[in-house]
Amino acid sequence: MADSTPVPVIAIDGPSASGKGTVALRVAAELGFHYLDSGALYRAAALAAMKAGANLENDLEVSRITLTLNINFIRDRIKIGNQDVTEAIREESVSNAASQVAAFPKVRAALLTRQRALRQPPGLVADGRDMGSVVFPDAVLKIFLTASPEERAARRHKQLMEKGMDANMTALLQDIQERDTRDSARSVAPLQKCADAVLLDTTGVPVEGVVTQVLALYKRARQAP
Ligand code: CDP
Repeated sequence: MADSTPVPVIAIDGPSASGKGTVALRVAAELGFHYLDSGALYRAAALAAMKAGANLENDLEVSRITLTLNINFIRDRIKIGNQDVTEAIREESVSNAASQVAAFPKVRAALLTRQRALRQPPGLVADGRDMGSVVFPDAVLKIFLTASPEERAARRHKQLMEKGMDANMTALLQDIQERDTRDSARSVAPLQKCADAVLLDTTGVPVEGVVTQVLALYKRARQAP
């Protein structure tokens, strides 16, 4: 008889630079689960639309490009067709465009099936803004990860400096606050904590501590009747 137990999903949502990606990757590695960086999909869609010269204010135009995109995650690299876009999608212009096109319902719908297709045994850790609310509402564990805007700006600053990129704290803080407002205020899949998500404020908590907390919560959720 086929096993009807759904593949477990851990949904980790939260604002920009809250550490979702790092925590999700580490939790996935600990459990031997797959990992979905949903933000990378929105970034890839935005980059492809920019390259195609599409009107970034037109949902239909961007969603048409999104639907035909051949995006592949190969270990820690992301490709569109044969082109490696791992670094290109992290550029500031793409971050802003991603946040802009992510507000479009057709673009979001175009990425939905792709995200759900990544739910493969033995399990998936998915990070984003609407993993628990829209994409995987039946996730066994939902986490809403956050930290103060100042701490998030400092983390992003450190990340950029480590990559040898120039960064200004004041500009980063302003960018984070603008993105928070845009992601929370949009009418489709706004960034918000679901009622059944566990809120983890990581201000002042090192990654290791957050990973331990998530693993303990997962263990408990699996044991729950
Ligand atoms: O690195 P950061 O957390 O700033 O961004 P990201 O997770 O890579 O996502 C890039 C953009 O895509 C965000 O600003 C969101 O607007 C959007 N996004 C979304 O709307 N829904 C998701 N599930 C993931 C990202």
